[in-house]
Amino acid sequence: MDSGAVTVARTGTVRGELVLRESGGHYEVISNGVFLMDTRAGESERLLVRAALDAVPPGSRLLIGGLGVGFSLAEAAASPRPAEIVVIEIEPALVGWHRGPLGRFSAGALDDPRVRVVTADIVTWLAGTDERFDAICLDVDNGPDWTVFDTNAQLYGGDGLALLRARLTPGGVLAVWSASASPAYAARLADAVGPVETLAVEVARGEPDVVYLARQKARDRV
Ligand SMILES: C[S@@+](CC[C@H](N)C(=O)[O-])C[C@H]1O[C@@H](n2cnc3c(N)ncnc32)[C@H](O)[C@@H]1O
Repeated sequence: MDSGAVTVARTGTVRGELVLRESGGHYEVISNGVFLMDTRAGESERLLVRAALDAVPPGSRLLIGGLGVGFSLAEAAASPRPAEIVVIEIEPALVGWHRGPLGRFSAGALDDPRVRVVTADIVTWLAGTDERFDAICLDVDNGPDWTVFDTNAQLYGGDGLALLRARLTPGGVLAVWSASASPAYAARLADAVGPVETLAVEVARGEPDVVYLARQKARDRV
């Protein structure tokens, strides 16, 4: 976290406090004391979407888990490839901040007619929908081993992986963002979904960011 940053918005939620801080024209989002995302980089968050879209045909349906500062959504909306982009974001206040200070980072994508933003917990939303997607991009935590909320841990275990796989179209891809490598998760992902490609992005601070890209196994195709 930037110690010189000033708080520009703060809201209480049932999950704790959500804070938006600004420093030098950049913003950071803190959820219940845990750093979630800032606007300084974004390369791996864009790669998450680009790698997934490169793996599916034009006209595809894309699901993005976690709006954050909007880098992933902006990357998706900049591409002609997806016909539909559904974003699931748990924090209504954060969606509202994209009508204000974060708007330049999502680059108007919320007004793209292909985009639908749903304010919901993706864990419960996935369990309650029968929608299917050609690509699912999951970036709601700092990674499978460092979740923002305890309940998000469900997404990375066997039941969560089965839920995500069930929401893929035949041959669809699941891309998962992580702030550090997680070989155990990659193995679970390969087992539950299909062959995994691991993409690493060097970052200024510490360990590279990682994007895991899994393509659904042939046995799941119908
Ligand atoms: C690391 S940020 C996403 C970064 C995003 N890829 C970007 O480009 O800015 C994680 C986002 O997921 C949201 N989130 C966390 N848990 C969630 C959940 N269970 N369901 C939906 N959204 C969630 C957070 O509020 C936050 O906006």
